[in-house]
Amino acid sequence: MSWKNTKRWEKIVERTDWQKRSKDIASYIQPNSVVLEFGCYDQSLKTYLPEGCRYIGSDLYARGEDTLVCDLDAEELADFPVADVAVFAGVLEYVKNVGKVLDRLTTEQIVCTYALRPPFPYHTKRNEFERLFTERGYKLETFTNGTSRTSYNSPEWHLWHWRKDDTS
Ligand SMILES: C[S@@+](CC[C@H](N)C(=O)[O-])C[C@H]1O[C@@H](n2cnc3c(N)ncnc32)[C@H](O)[C@@H]1O
Repeated sequence: MSWKNTKRWEKIVERTDWQKRSKDIASYIQPNSVVLEFGCYDQSLKTYLPEGCRYIGSDLYARGEDTLVCDLDAEELADFPVADVAVFAGVLEYVKNVGKVLDRLTTEQIVCTYALRPPFPYHTKRNEFERLFTERGYKLETFTNGTSRTSYNSPEWHLWHWRKDDTS
């Protein structure tokens, strides 16, 4: 399998490990938030969100008619919808220029997972990855080793919860 072949995600197959990860991510989100998820796949996050949340799913492929279809690797990125929290689970490893995506974000919070090692097409050192967020005014709230939290059967990955630093 080529890790760069995005075609493999066109068709949804049940991934209970990813659903577990979505459930874990939902625990970082407050009730009544507007949640914008990139790389939303089967949109399982939506089913785990706390009360009163509004969910906007975005992906390379339409996952139902209300999906915001968007290639995060596109030369020109359109403006993203206004939201409180942006979620990126298992997708930033496939994006060449994460900083360019973050430049488009206006959300107060970001919950993301990222693998710091191969075999993913793009990976970087933890401090370089984190600098992309801190340089844009986000402050780290939580960092966890995601693999141990969900027994996710995949190469090592981690979870970050970021919040806009009002003092910066
Ligand atoms: C590994 S799956 C992750 C699914 C799910 N978010 C999870 O881990 O819980 C990667 C998802 O990101 C999407 N994706 C991959 N490359 C992308 C890109 N350049 N722009 C937008 N979405 C992308 C895929 O279509 C797929 O739905």
